[in-house]
Amino acid sequence: MESLVYQIVLLTTAAVMLLALMSIVFVSWRNGISPMPSSSVVRREVLRLMKRLPMQGPLSDGVMIEAGSGWGSLALQLGRSFRGWRIIGLENSVIPLWISFCAAKLENRMNVSFTKCDLYTYCYRDVDRVVCYLYPGAMRRLSPLFREQLKPGAYVVSILFALPDWEPEQVMVCKDMYRTPIYLYKA
Ligand SMILES: C[S@@+](CC[C@H](N)C(=O)[O-])C[C@H]1O[C@@H](n2cnc3c(N)ncnc32)[C@H](O)[C@@H]1O
Repeated sequence: MESLVYQIVLLTTAAVMLLALMSIVFVSWRNGISPMPSSSVVRREVLRLMKRLPMQGPLSDGVMIEAGSGWGSLALQLGRSFRGWRIIGLENSVIPLWISFCAAKLENRMNVSFTKCDLYTYCYRDVDRVVCYLYPGAMRRLSPLFREQLKPGAYVVSILFALPDWEPEQVMVCKDMYRTPIYLYKA
């Protein structure tokens, strides 16, 4: 009897894990990108860059979007460093989104939230900063959306991939083995 219960628990766990893995693979295939997190070196450089942006006046407590927040590590790090800001992670892959949500709850990180949505249909009109680590096709789609919706003075920080038809204000090169570029744009 005990071994039957053990087998049922084992099989259920395996089935849940398989379903979770299938969900991640399917959404990654549909999105054209997996939820691979940015490295700690890159995250540190993003924070360094963002800390140098103007923070005075109304911009000491704005809204920051992480478009495609994956497992939530970058959004949570931003939340720790920018306590007066509201950080919103946009993600459409349920498993990474759920892990991010749990991590924020465990940390009691009140200024960070995660939303299940498509980053191409989100309204960026009231946003002060956007951070993203996506892929060239996504940047091509976001370029006109940001041009149309972002208010003047809003910043976009993009890891690895440039925003087509935008002139970067700055390009930082990380000291990782890939020399990852980070692009800074001002709307
Ligand atoms: C390379 S990961 C970046 C993870 C995180 N930003 C980081 O730096 O650690 C890109 C994320 O974008 C998400 N993504 C891609 N297309 C999306 C879409 N249309 N709507 C919402 N999320 C999307 C993917 O699911 C993936 O988790």
